[in-house]
Amino acid sequence: MKADHRNTPIFQRIKQFSADSPLSFHVPGHKNGTVFPHGPYEYFEEILKLDVTELPGLDDLHAPNDSIAEAEGLASDFFRSDHTFFLVGGSTAGNLAMILAVCSAGDKVIVQRNSHKSIINGLELSGARPVFVSPKYDKEADRYTNPSMSALREAIRKHSDAKAVVLTYPDYFGKTYPIKEMIDLAHEFHLPVLVDEAHGVHFSLGEPFPLSALHLGADVVVQSAHKMAPAMTMASFLHIKSTLIKKERIAHFLQMIQSSSPSYPLMASLDIARSYLATLDSAQITSILHSTKNVRDLLQTANYGEVLVADDPLKITFHVKQGLSAKEVAGLLEERKIYPELVTHNQILFIHGLKPLKQVEALKKTIKSIEEQLKNRPNHATIEIAKLFPQPIQELALSYQEMNTLPYRHVSFTEGIGHIAAEAVTPYPPGIPLILKGEMITAAHIEIIEQLREQGVRIQQREKGIRIFSK
Ligand SMILES: Cc1ncc(COP(=O)(O)O)c(C=O)c1O
Repeated sequence: MKADHRNTPIFQRIKQFSADSPLSFHVPGHKNGTVFPHGPYEYFEEILKLDVTELPGLDDLHAPNDSIAEAEGLASDFFRSDHTFFLVGGSTAGNLAMILAVCSAGDKVIVQRNSHKSIINGLELSGARPVFVSPKYDKEADRYTNPSMSALREAIRKHSDAKAVVLTYPDYFGKTYPIKEMIDLAHEFHLPVLVDEAHGVHFSLGEPFPLSALHLGADVVVQSAHKMAPAMTMASFLHIKSTLIKKERIAHFLQMIQSSSPSYPLMASLDIARSYLATLDSAQITSILHSTKNVRDLLQTANYGEVLVADDPLKITFHVKQGLSAKEVAGLLEERKIYPELVTHNQILFIHGLKPLKQVEALKKTIKSIEEQLKNRPNHATIEIAKLFPQPIQELALSYQEMNTLPYRHVSFTEGIGHIAAEAVTPYPPGIPLILKGEMITAAHIEIIEQLREQGVRIQQREKGIRIFSK
């Protein structure tokens, strides 16, 4: 029987539960919102009614057999997976679980170097031995994108004893690449392919969006529903479609990584997001695309930069003119209460929602109004990042096991050159480590970090300088 994607079983069940005015002698301590400070309650009231726990009839994320199982089943039907897991800890939880499910201490795993820190953290937690494949520097996009097929082939040939290939698709800016060829190559060597598709949940809509890696043969695909679909922050999916990986292993690690009290509003929002995607009709999609084109065209009229070509129509990347700082341009937008998603040293990323934008006039005015202010800005040097990954394939200088036994000390960035980093240095967003824990620190790393900091890019660190291993 054809699934009815208007259904939202988790949401319907908790809505019914709350409508019965239940008396709570259980957690959470806000007791359906009745124990909550008065002022904030006005804002939280409706959501607190839905913030329940594993009561009879409400199912259990870690052993689902009722409304959560039904909701995961509907998601699996829409995304065409063998099984879909609901995640309440973001794609972060999914990325950790998929890596832990396939590799143990000392196992080799082939990984795209410019991966999100959750992938890198998964490698460290598992104690695996990563073989990193460097991304290409894409001159047109003016940033690093995906690894080349030839580098991946070389890595797989040299390390065919690896346990998996881990790729990111699309990148933060919505750029895709011929991932199918890479998946097919890995499968020739019986290697499962795990894909961090945090930015691609809407790819399952199909044309005119790019195809999801899940439909191109990947074994496990993780998607942040909260990034590109209407789900609450942290709500994400892990899809499995594989003869190489067992669903039970993923489930095992997910119940270790995720809370034993997963949030029902988050799970219900996943249910709603799937229903939203699955019931979008072609007229709605056409008007969304029309709206993305309007925003693109508007930005293109600005004399302080240009819009780059994108594979994902919802991602709009504005490349600021040479000499200007993207941070400064974004700052002027933010002063006018327009908040982009991400600002690098030279690009500003705008994410369009899955609904036509209403505030087009306001955006138009703002884009024009900041032209004047940008006229007399001092010139910023261009940051030359193309030298960041000189080797197509690289391994860490130390194994994670060795790193666990070594003492470390804290030094200035410059003193760190020529030493092995004992912590990652990560510009955030996008959350891709510029230096990895266990990587040799080079002068090029430090030069780029200093320039990024000068231009206001946020580096995620608790202390200035860097920790290095003392050998
Ligand atoms: C490529 C990529 N993977 C994974 C994540 C982590 O996703 P989440 O915030 O859902 O944990 C992010 C977050 O920005 C990301 O950009």
